[in-house]
Amino acid sequence: MSKVTYIDFAGNTTELDLANGMTLMQGALMNGLDGIEGECSGSCACATCHCYVDEAYLGKLPEISENEDELLDSTVSERLPNSRLSCQIRMSDELDGIVVRLPEEQS
Ligand code: FES
Repeated sequence: MSKVTYIDFAGNTTELDLANGMTLMQGALMNGLDGIEGECSGSCACATCHCYVDEAYLGKLPEISENEDELLDSTVSERLPNSRLSCQIRMSDELDGIVVRLPEEQS
């Protein structure tokens, strides 16, 4: 299990313990969090799982694939340098404590 903190657009914080291997999108949906939609169920095809990753963890994430990069260009809320798709981030010991902020809108 590793800890993740989601901060929604209004500033509400939710801290969860997720099994390693689970994606941040799955963790949010399974726990009923608003702010992540995950319409394509993690197939990297919808961009409704957009999140902003705390700078301290950016370097620990897997490289952005070409597909994710293209989708990030079509997010409803502004793409920022720390934008990622939460379905492409799998929890691991290395990511324990990760903090992600959720955008104002997903679709
Ligand atoms: S859930 Fe669709 S791209 Fe992440």
